[in-house]
Amino acid sequence: MNSKGYVLVTGGAGYIGSHTFVELVKAGYTPVILDDFRNSNRIVIEGLRRITDTEPIIAEVDVCSADVRDLFKTYSFAGIIHFAAYKAVGESVKEPLKYYKNNIGGLVNILLLAEEFKVRSFVFSSSCTVYGEPGDVKEVDEHMPVAKANSPYGNTKIIGEQIITDLYQTNPEFRMMSLRYFNPIGAHPSGEIGEYPIGRPNNLLPFITQTAIGKQDSLTVFGNDYPTPDGTCIRDYIHVCDLAMAHVKALDYLIGLHEGCNEFVNVGTGKGTSVLELIKAFESMSAMKLNWAFGPRRAGDVTEIYANAERSRQLLKWNSTFTIEDAVRDAWRWEKNLAQHV
Ligand code: NAD
Ligand code: WQD
Repeated sequence: MNSKGYVLVTGGAGYIGSHTFVELVKAGYTPVILDDFRNSNRIVIEGLRRITDTEPIIAEVDVCSADVRDLFKTYSFAGIIHFAAYKAVGESVKEPLKYYKNNIGGLVNILLLAEEFKVRSFVFSSSCTVYGEPGDVKEVDEHMPVAKANSPYGNTKIIGEQIITDLYQTNPEFRMMSLRYFNPIGAHPSGEIGEYPIGRPNNLLPFITQTAIGKQDSLTVFGNDYPTPDGTCIRDYIHVCDLAMAHVKALDYLIGLHEGCNEFVNVGTGKGTSVLELIKAFESMSAMKLNWAFGPRRAGDVTEIYANAERSRQLLKWNSTFTIEDAVRDAWRWEKNLAQHV
């Protein structure tokens, strides 16, 4: 075991979880992955081995199941990072119960065990989706009210934060932190791990790289008549390795506390990038002309949102370090690497 102790990483084989695994090992923790690979691919394990030069500990169980208890009996966890959840907004509208069962059921199961086994430090994967359509305010801070969710997926994040708050109120020894991610993109610079979208990607950058490599015929840019400088939506794209590092900082912070807390922290760069800017960044990095065209707006899209990143700077002493250019380069390297495996 590394000196800083075992950390339970549910969903640790997934996109953000696998990059966090790498940063946890680098920081001196011993992550224990809980993942049944329902939305990830076992090839990630090979990548983790190569990057970290360690043998990942993996428990292949459903996060909602009674078997998770065995893990708590086997390891004395210094903390928990709870990633495991479904994340496709559109699917959640069609199959809401699937989302409530997994995202809420999994969270409650882990929290019950955390309480029973007195594992106090807990990091929850939340999302900027809790802010909804921010209206005139584009730069959102953590004091902004949580909006009505525009999908069952978004609702699972709002309810998840609420469950954590309710538990904290009855058990103030917990050290809770909900990290509200903005738009994670990119891949590990080694090209060994990255995002593995199953089926047709919903998110922009995987769609760009899949179009470039020929898995998709063309990219549709959803809307060109938004009230933004180039007419396309603006998001705060954050490199997944920066996001992973924020989890290590969050855990260090929580474990170092002498009292309980319940924090909500944005994880973004503080900078907005439009859809067209991201496409241009990809084209200039790869020297390729992407096959894209404007199409109609996508229902439910927010016009413009980016993080106020002050709280993460102050509380976690964390700052993003990678640029958009780094992210498109790393995503492209990963896409090319993936093409050789699957
Ligand atoms: P992902 O699908 O790549 O990773 C999730 C992992 O959890 C997968 O490996 C999957 O197999 C596993 N999993 C899901 N349900 C499980 C279950 N019942 N038992 C065991 N394993 C299970 O997703 P990601 O992008 O890495 O997202 C991680 C977390 O971050 C999720 O909670 C997601 O809602 C949240 N989040 C993601 C984004 C994003 O854009 N990727 C943005 C904000 C928040
Ligand atoms: C980004 C921009 C699209 C695809 C989603 C979830 C959110 C969070 C992050 C989990 C938008 C445009 C996209 C395409 C396009 N996930 N786009 N053509 O919608 O900001 O956020 O992922 O919590 O909850 O809703 O990200 O990558 O889907 O879209 O023009 O083929 O790219 O319209 O403006 P989004 P995205």
